Amino acid sequence: MQDKINRIKKEVSDIKVATQAELEDFRLKYLSKKGSLNGLFDEFKNVANEQKKEVGQRLNELKVLLSNTYERFKGEMESRQTTETGNDLTRSGESIAIGSRHPISIVRNEICDIFARIGFTVAEGPEMEDDWHVFSALNFPPEHPARDMQDTFFIAQQPDILLRTHTSSVQVRVMETTKPPIRMIMPGRVFRNEVISARSHCIFHQVEGLYVAEKVSFADLKQTLMFFAREMFGEKTQIRLRPSFFPFTEPSAEMDVSCTCNGKGCNLCKHTGWLEIMGCGMIDPNVLESNGINSEKHSGFAFGMGIERIAMLRFGTKDIRMYFENDVRFLKQFSAAI
Ligand code: DAH
Repeated sequence: MQDKINRIKKEVSDIKVATQAELEDFRLKYLSKKGSLNGLFDEFKNVANEQKKEVGQRLNELKVLLSNTYERFKGEMESRQTTETGNDLTRSGESIAIGSRHPISIVRNEICDIFARIGFTVAEGPEMEDDWHVFSALNFPPEHPARDMQDTFFIAQQPDILLRTHTSSVQVRVMETTKPPIRMIMPGRVFRNEVISARSHCIFHQVEGLYVAEKVSFADLKQTLMFFAREMFGEKTQIRLRPSFFPFTEPSAEMDVSCTCNGKGCNLCKHTGWLEIMGCGMIDPNVLESNGINSEKHSGFAFGMGIERIAMLRFGTKDIRMYFENDVRFLKQFSAAI
């Protein structure tokens, strides 16, 4: 036993530890449960009584030597790491700054959540489209100005491939593949060849709504939109439908919500007391028929709104371009709004 103790003492005096793995090897070999020190303590039980005092002393000295050596190696390693890299690698790491959800995503999710409460599910469609889905199936006549190069980004002509100018194209895709009753909302990015200014951008987002079933009436449309407006802007919100025109709805309307100035007049509502937020109407029977739905049996309504517009009203943003500039100073302000 004495020999063993001396051999380990000699061994340890020759050891040099340079890496974390070597330090761990040292600990496992000598100090762990299955290490040599514990082994010797086990053997100690069998040492003859008259030798116990002497051997016990040596064993304890070895124990102190091993644990001191281990602590010294460990300390040396830590200070080497600090000085070699100039960094203290034993310090806890810096936390990574995570961003916040984009205000457009916040508002889109909120719109989807509100409609989900009354049974609408979400559908999406492609941003790159053909003429049929963006215009023809929606009853746009061939000479309609929206088809003009001035307004629409064309990717190829004959056959026409273009960036969708509205999410109404997804209505067509949904009607092609789904049998009524249909109750869906369709959020997405749209593109228009517009001059970029504080009020308009060449890229923006819309949410489209579509309801097709038996005996759907204008009253259903109005009630649905009223529900949405109150959930989105508060329970005192009033809505107003003004007659309008869209090729794919008849009758068509623009919907306004009451301004928070209560009609007293402010800059936002330009002293009218009303803010326009979407287009809507009863789906034109021609559109149902072009998409294989029997317009004698089924009727429906549709609506479409710009997400930036709603976000600007909600957050009081004065310039639409801020939503596209990726300036963290702007984006960080919405972290509480999720
Ligand atoms: N697509 C129209 C636009 O971009 C908005 C719209 C109006 C959508 C009426 C509709 C609707 O579904 O029924 O201006």
